[in-house]
Amino acid sequence: MNRPHKTILHVVGARPNYMKIAPLMDALKSVAGVRQILVNTGQHYDEAMAKGFIRELNLPMPDRDLEVGSASHAVQTGNVMIRFEQVCLEERPDLVVVVGDVNSTMAATLVAAKLLIPVAHVEAGLRSNDRAMPEEINRIVTDRLADLLLTPSPDGNENLLREGVPAERVHLVGNIMIDTLFRHQPMATLDRVADRVNVKDGGYAVLTLHRPSNVDVLETFRGILTAVAEIAAELPVVFPVHPRTQARVKEFGLDALLKDVQTTGPLGYIDFLSLTSHAKIVLTDSGGLQEESTALGIPCLTLRENTERPVTVTHGTNTIVGTNTQRILAGYRAAMSGGVSKRRPELWDGQTAGRIAAVLERYLFG
Ligand code: UD1
Repeated sequence: MNRPHKTILHVVGARPNYMKIAPLMDALKSVAGVRQILVNTGQHYDEAMAKGFIRELNLPMPDRDLEVGSASHAVQTGNVMIRFEQVCLEERPDLVVVVGDVNSTMAATLVAAKLLIPVAHVEAGLRSNDRAMPEEINRIVTDRLADLLLTPSPDGNENLLREGVPAERVHLVGNIMIDTLFRHQPMATLDRVADRVNVKDGGYAVLTLHRPSNVDVLETFRGILTAVAEIAAELPVVFPVHPRTQARVKEFGLDALLKDVQTTGPLGYIDFLSLTSHAKIVLTDSGGLQEESTALGIPCLTLRENTERPVTVTHGTNTIVGTNTQRILAGYRAAMSGGVSKRRPELWDGQTAGRIAAVLERYLFG
């Protein structure tokens, strides 16, 4: 097709970003006239948290590595901005694509908006209405500045319209992470992780914890792990531990509560999917895992007081149980006694990347 060529610059930075960009870059390969550039901010930098995902998900190696690393919110955000501005000035993209709600998402959006480069936000419109959560600030700022808002579920559209975003900017496209999940599910077998965990198909729980509000506060963290210890006495619990969480377990001296829990370091994408897709139940404070367990039809207990993904409760397998020991145990008993329906939200069908590519193509080429 003979059309002017346009440059799309994709931004990734932290573990939950890679699985959202991979299917989109793939879908855009078949759109004529598009040149794609991948920028990795380096917000996450350990092999297991970053480059391992890039390789496993068949993303191209990043064209630019900003190597910002860990720091306070202001320093990390500022470093992404300073380095990303330079990339934008050199590459002059026609569109910047950001995903999710991490600091890199907001930082890149701020830079692009000030350079008058249009921004497309994948996973727009989610709101926990809890500003104590850094991701909520990132979501609000990103959505306020983005030109194209690509939402995973109708509640995203409702939130954006309520906040005054013009309807023509908002596109309900579905959940792109589920594209990656469906694509890799056939490879997700338990023998992949048999060297690290000892579990039987359908006979164990998976636990993940990394929210600062859960693991940086001793009483909260101890309350959660007290419930986990009780669950582990009757059902094997597998716990791949995030680096932040690992540090707090040591600092707070909570190892004893994990003595019956099978802990591992952070896992790769397919290894982790192998674990979750064969689990009996998932306990988590992650946003992405609430969605993945809904797509897999596996009960999920969310160890938080709120969720920005209410569709996983109304149309999925998720229950919000908070962080109190007794509430977690009550939620666990209720889920184990059955009654969790296996619904999946509309458009969580593995075809989201194609829908986004079509919206971007229309936007860029008319
Ligand atoms: C970040 C995101 C969060 C996302 C999570 C997924 C923000 C505000 N938070 O939180 O939304 O759910 O990623 O993991 O953007 N560390 C390492 N190696 C790494 C990365 C981090 O050891 O590769 C350690 C460092 O000690 C660091 C700590 O983990 O200080 C926290 O990392 P950081 O990126 O600040 O936040 P996350 O908790 O990972």
